Amino acid sequence: MRLFIATDLDAAAREEIAALQWRLTRRAGDVSSPKWTKPEQMHLTLVFVGDADELLSAKLIVAMQKRPTQAAFDLTFGRVGMFPPRGAPRVLWLGVGAGAAPLTVLQREIAARVEALGIALEPRPFHPHLTLARWRDSRPSDRRAFDELSDTDAVASVRVDHATLYRSQPSAGGSIYTPVARVNLQP
Ligand code: 2AM
Repeated sequence: MRLFIATDLDAAAREEIAALQWRLTRRAGDVSSPKWTKPEQMHLTLVFVGDADELLSAKLIVAMQKRPTQAAFDLTFGRVGMFPPRGAPRVLWLGVGAGAAPLTVLQREIAARVEALGIALEPRPFHPHLTLARWRDSRPSDRRAFDELSDTDAVASVRVDHATLYRSQPSAGGSIYTPVARVNLQP
């Protein structure tokens, strides 16, 4: 199984982000055809664990039981960007505005717990983002429609008051995410 730890969005934020996706779809016209993330699948990954067996999964569930030192905080989603930063885009994402500092503190704490179990995490720096859409096949010109959106105003705000360990299973209609464990932050 494939595991990752993420923060969730409430229904209002999912709706606001879905409305943004709709505005972006119209903006893109039919030049590019990325696959849009469904509202029920939206999340912000803190730590991607990757493949895990039952034993590691059980250890992670235990590691998730301890309350993080970072208290609950508000997070604002803004700014639209793409991975990679040049050439044919693969991912269209929504970045984080206010709340990035406590989010990074929380991320470090969760990442340290995972590493303490002997899991080597990807060395690249944490780049908080919510995947809005993915391209399977794309051309460099597909990024034009979205290129000047980096100054987007706040799109949605959420209260980050917990983190969830998810199991991800591939399926024909996109990945299925099943919550396995959850830890609440101090209110
Ligand atoms: P992404 O949306 O940018 O692909 C489940 O796959 C979650 O883990 C997604 O949010 C995904 O981010 C994230 N993730 C981070 N690193 C990953 C990797 N190497 N492979 C797959 N998913 C990864």
